[in-house]
Amino acid sequence: MLEGKKVVLAYSGGLDTSVCLKWFEQQGATPYALYLDLGQGEPKVDVKEKAIKIGAADAFVRDARAEFVEEYVAPAIKANALYGGRYPLFTALGRPLIAKKLVEAAREVGAELIAHGSTGKGNDQVRFDVTTASIAPDLTVVAPVRDWNMSRPEEMAYAEEHGIPVSTTKKSPYSVDENLWGRSIEAGPLEDPDHEPTPDVYALTKEPEEAPNEPRYVEIGFEEGLPVSLDGREMPLLDLIVGLNAVAGEHGVGRVDMIEDRLVGIKSREIYEAPAAMTIIQAHQELETMTLTKDVLRFKAQVEQRYAELAYDGLWFTPLTAALDAFIHETQKAVTGAVRLKLYKGSSTVAGRTAPKALYSKDLATYDPNSTFDESAAAGFIALWGLPARQWAGLHGEGAGRSPAIPKLG
Ligand code: ARG
Repeated sequence: MLEGKKVVLAYSGGLDTSVCLKWFEQQGATPYALYLDLGQGEPKVDVKEKAIKIGAADAFVRDARAEFVEEYVAPAIKANALYGGRYPLFTALGRPLIAKKLVEAAREVGAELIAHGSTGKGNDQVRFDVTTASIAPDLTVVAPVRDWNMSRPEEMAYAEEHGIPVSTTKKSPYSVDENLWGRSIEAGPLEDPDHEPTPDVYALTKEPEEAPNEPRYVEIGFEEGLPVSLDGREMPLLDLIVGLNAVAGEHGVGRVDMIEDRLVGIKSREIYEAPAAMTIIQAHQELETMTLTKDVLRFKAQVEQRYAELAYDGLWFTPLTAALDAFIHETQKAVTGAVRLKLYKGSSTVAGRTAPKALYSKDLATYDPNSTFDESAAAGFIALWGLPARQWAGLHGEGAGRSPAIPKLG
């Protein structure tokens, strides 16, 4: 089925996707490689040169960081998007963009196939395949690693046999994925959920014990739900994220160790480090509590959870995600202001918040006698608020709605 076909492969320069390239060539296909910069750091090799040497008809290296920040990370910030309440979804947000760029490249070279190096056990295959189904249903997705069932040693042997350079440095026991919104570490000793991650797991965050002894205050300024300044200095969101990754990471902030429910049904143990994502979302949530009504906050919390699940489950380009985006965007008009965080040895705590259109009013909240809150109105309000409870008690006896249902302890 591959004979004579053009295929665009998401290429990382690593072993898996290098073996994929060669394999496509051997099947008689014409492979093209696409390497995307999502802020994962400089590649260790010249990926273009390597891909062509292995047998790619052409190789494209593209910087997609700005698009990633504007169209994927920004809506996720507005949505406080955390899967399972903790994972900031960086990989899940990156996959639909990679798929979109694969589709674009496929159109450029006239390919009818696109390909990725995901295995059959993870969420990423789902995200690539479903995104492609959403935006380019005429294209076919191939996932050689999922289908060929080669073990790591077999892949190494295959690489050697075909002259694919394999890095000679000792292979890390971990499986890592990274972009500017965060870094994930899985596998090896981490598969034991009772094994505490050792320092070699982390690359973006300092060990809290080794973090500076002095706390660092950092102020994040927001406009309509998005960060626009760091410590009073205005800057593009991309730069702000890069800067905050460094500052918060230096203080050991942004680590997550969780058991996660994959879409494919497996529970997996995940280590994340996402200094900028965790602090930005924390500050954003805080500013929302100052500026949004109680009703919007309560309803938005439900929307956020669903939104995170949609992103996680590979449904980024679907109507429900788009509709929830519209709701979330509408809520952000008032979310302007600044939040000050105190970073100290692995923790980030809110130290202060200000907002020009704050709903928090000291005049109303103060216990000072000259508060503008009319306490005399409270009694009447409570009489009506408690009316149904009073009526129920009158008919069923005191507390009748509840206590008999609670089994006695012991
Ligand atoms: N568990 C995370 C997710 O499903 C991270 C996956 C990282 N992917 C990888 N191929 N290492 O989004």
